[in-house]
Amino acid sequence: MSWFKREHGGRSAVAAITGLAASAALAVVGMGTFATHAAAAGSLGSAAAQSGRYFGTAVPAGKLGTSAYSTILDREFTMITPENEMKWDTTEPSRGNFNFGPADQIVSHAQAHGQRMRGHTLVWHNQLPSWVSNLSASDLQSAMDNHITQEMTHYKGKIYAWDVVNEAFADGGSGQHRSSPFQDKLGNGFIEHAFRTARSADANAKLCYNDYNIENWSDAKTQGVYTMVKDFKSRGVPIDCVGFQSHFGNSGPPSSFQTTLSNFAALGVDVQLTELDIAQAGTTQYTNTVQACLNVARCTGITVWGIRDSDSWRSGDNPLLFDSNGNAKPAYTSVLNALNSATGTATGGTSSGTTNGGTTSGTTTGGTTTGGTGGGACTATYSTTNSWSGGYQGEVKVTAGSAAISGWTVRWTLSSGQSITQVWSGTLSTSGSAASVTNVSYNGSLQPSASTTFGFLANGTPSTPSLTCS
Ligand code: G3I
Repeated sequence: MSWFKREHGGRSAVAAITGLAASAALAVVGMGTFATHAAAAGSLGSAAAQSGRYFGTAVPAGKLGTSAYSTILDREFTMITPENEMKWDTTEPSRGNFNFGPADQIVSHAQAHGQRMRGHTLVWHNQLPSWVSNLSASDLQSAMDNHITQEMTHYKGKIYAWDVVNEAFADGGSGQHRSSPFQDKLGNGFIEHAFRTARSADANAKLCYNDYNIENWSDAKTQGVYTMVKDFKSRGVPIDCVGFQSHFGNSGPPSSFQTTLSNFAALGVDVQLTELDIAQAGTTQYTNTVQACLNVARCTGITVWGIRDSDSWRSGDNPLLFDSNGNAKPAYTSVLNALNSATGTATGGTSSGTTNGGTTSGTTTGGTTTGGTGGGACTATYSTTNSWSGGYQGEVKVTAGSAAISGWTVRWTLSSGQSITQVWSGTLSTSGSAASVTNVSYNGSLQPSASTTFGFLANGTPSTPSLTCS
């Protein structure tokens, strides 16, 4: 029996406090990595960005105001998943009454700190208010469609990827869908229907299926999900990614984990580790897990399910990278070193037509440089939001002039050694050193003086480009 099946719900033990003092741990990291990797980055997020990946965490809105918590969040993490705030019981507690307040707090925090968002989750049998379970089949269908559409529309342009459907497959040997109000009343087609509805609601967010215990390649549950994704891709059902929750026991990932990731990626979807935690946080186990992702080009990012052991839903297992006092644990150092040693660059697909990384206004950790502005209908300003040896993250703010505009293109010339590897909230074209980014569907129309942003990751050294906006 798997770890999740045996342990789900067991969260009573008080977390033991282990590990190094944060400053000491960071010093050790610095010394160790400088010896072998001159380009080593000092946080999980910037280390992951060197290979074009993100490093995220689950965040409960209630902890954002605690500085001991938010200091680590904003120093280390570049992607945020709301731990509970985007789930159905919070966002639509009674039919047609939407409550986006708690999740809005998290999105605002992310925008202010240059972090991207994963939306979790639209259709799930847990944390589902009882009114949904009590509907007739036809009512349930329209309630599900409305829930997906309203929530995705509210967050349009702010979400990198949505967990459209979560945990729809059964544990054990059947490889079939689990019983749930959706399955039992709407039948097998509910997952496909949810993905098609999601694509209609937001053409640009990545649409993911997310589940646990699908990391071991030979498991019936893994095979069931694989067969579904293969079928979806063959019939053009819109699916862009699969999230592997990666809640592991103390032995860490199964030996086939990398095989599983690459087999799914070969179907034409991005893969991500979405809720990683490992009982007792062994260094080898964390390294093996992270390395499996780094070895698969379409593994675009890793999210741990909480920051400190005391934040974990299974805190008795001490499964995270920081102890309950916020000190980095040995596993933190292992993960950082693995990320800093990555070779190659992640190549996420753009199967939804464009990638959407959400907005990333806010923090400038690499020093802000303001670019030139073009005259006419719009102006554009550039800032470096992050940089490391060999690469950087840039953001461009596009502002309409005195008249409304219905589309924009920003052009500039890349300096020697610069190349763009990823763009969000815009569509890139390059020709030699000429780069141009055009709006995506949701951010082309701007009222007079209104602004929007797009972001990008690039190889090379940041410099101040001369931008034109038309
Ligand atoms: O908000 C209420 C509070 O008002 C009440 O007093 C308290 C009493 O128990 O409960 C609070 O709600 C709890 C909620 O977390 C917010 O803290 C629920 O009881 C509790 O069940 C809920 O647990 C969450 C769990 O999902 C529910 O399924 C965990 O925080 C969350 O980490 C966990 O996350 C899931 C992923 O979404 C999907 N994959 C598995 C993962 C771990 O179970």
